[in-house]
Order: sequence, then structure tokens, then C-alpha cells
Amino acid sequence: MTRVVDAIAPVVVPGPAELAEAAARWTGDRITAAVAERRACYLALAGGETPRGCYERLAQPPYRDGLPWPSVYVFWSDERQVPLDDPASNYAMAKTALLDHVPIPPEQIFPMVRDPVAGLLRLPTNQLGIPRFDVIHLGMGEDGHTASLFVGSPVLQEAQALVGHVHNAPKPPPDRLTLTLPVINAARAVLFIVQGASKREALARVLQRDPVLPASLVEPIDGELQFIVDRAAAAT
Ligand code: 6PG
Repeated sequence: MTRVVDAIAPVVVPGPAELAEAAARWTGDRITAAVAERRACYLALAGGETPRGCYERLAQPPYRDGLPWPSVYVFWSDERQVPLDDPASNYAMAKTALLDHVPIPPEQIFPMVRDPVAGLLRLPTNQLGIPRFDVIHLGMGEDGHTASLFVGSPVLQEAQALVGHVHNAPKPPPDRLTLTLPVINAARAVLFIVQGASKREALARVLQRDPVLPASLVEPIDGELQFIVDRAAAAT
């Protein structure tokens, strides 16, 4: 497969509602394809506020009833080290927005704080033996961080571990868990969902592949990379 990095042209949509719709449709298509081809879809959800709209949209028709949810395995691209029912929990956000509304068997949902690595070892692997997700969702911070991969963080250099432990994160809460770059870049498809004018400068630098910004280091070695962003974030 040809590398797709230099072909990143973000899909730009007017606002939050269209962003949620476009991200839900993109995700739904890849869940359907993965289950049709491999009878399972390994999906890592993003944290933060931006993906909530997409998850609420996936919990509504036609996605709620039309997708093969019983064959979906759910993970997170990062998590805050807080209890699962804490308002700051990425798991809690996804549970309320999506997981409570679709028929995914509970044993196929792997909260990161419970045992971050065990669940990953169930995934099929790529040619390097790295767990290969079908779909990974990512957000992006105003400083160009993604998941819990922050500017200058030693976790960015991680080449072996599947999950990185982050302490003193510049974005609260300070203690976090994150998929590492080797796992993110082993995925079949990675989607960045980016919203708002505050992300404009970082997004422009990430699309120019500025290596200082962690989101620029997301380059699937044998997979698809897509940005779906709203007009406020994309404006130049
Ligand atoms: C987290 C996220 C983080 C997030 C960005 C954007 O747990 O905080 O995974 O990487 O995606 O900070 O956050 P917003 O969508 O809330 O702007």
C-alpha cells in the first residue's frame, strides 16, 4: 500500500453538527468493512470533548441499528487516571454518549484504567507483531498534543511499550495512560476529529508535518490517515 502521509487533505465541514455526522459516517463505513472482511472491528475511542458529538451521532439511527455492534471491541487511545465514573473519565464520556445505547457485549469493552495492556494482546498484529487496530480516533489539543502524547514527552520516544504512563501532563488531570506511537501507527485507519478556532494554528502546523507537535508524528505505516475538521479550525 502506498504511503498516504503526503495526501492529507482535511475534510472541512461547516460546524459541530456536520463534524459529528461526517465522523460518524466515516467510522461507520470502516466498522462495517472490518466486520465484513475479518468478522470483528477493533476500535479505539478518543477522549476530550470534541468526539462526544460523533459518539452521540453513532448512538442514533441509522448507525445505532445498522452497524454490527456485537462484533466491535472497544478500547481508548488515551485515558485519565481517574475512576471510571469520574466526570473527567474518557470512558465515562463514551459510555454516556455511545456505549449505553448500542449492543456491544460488556466483555468486549476494555477501559484503559482496568488493565491497559491485557486487552491489547487480543488484537491481531501487523508484520512487526504490533497490535493492529481497525480504527483509532484521535483529538488534538491547542498545543498539538494528541491522545496523551504531549510536546517533549519521553513517551514520544517509546518504541517497545504498547501503553505509556504519563505523569505531570500539561493538560489536567496530570496522570494519564496513552497508546504509544508504534501502536497508533500500526492501525488500519486513524481519524483526527478537530474543532474550533483555538486549534487553528496547531492544525496548520500538524498538516505541514511540523515534527515538534506530537500529532504530526501520527503516520500509519500501512494504513489510512484522515482529518475531519470544522471550518473554524481549518480557516487560514
Ligand atoms: C484527553 C484527550 C486529548 C484531547 C485533546 C483535545 O484525554 O484529554 O485524549 O488528547 O483529544 O486535548 O481535547 P478537546 O476535544 O476537549 O478539545
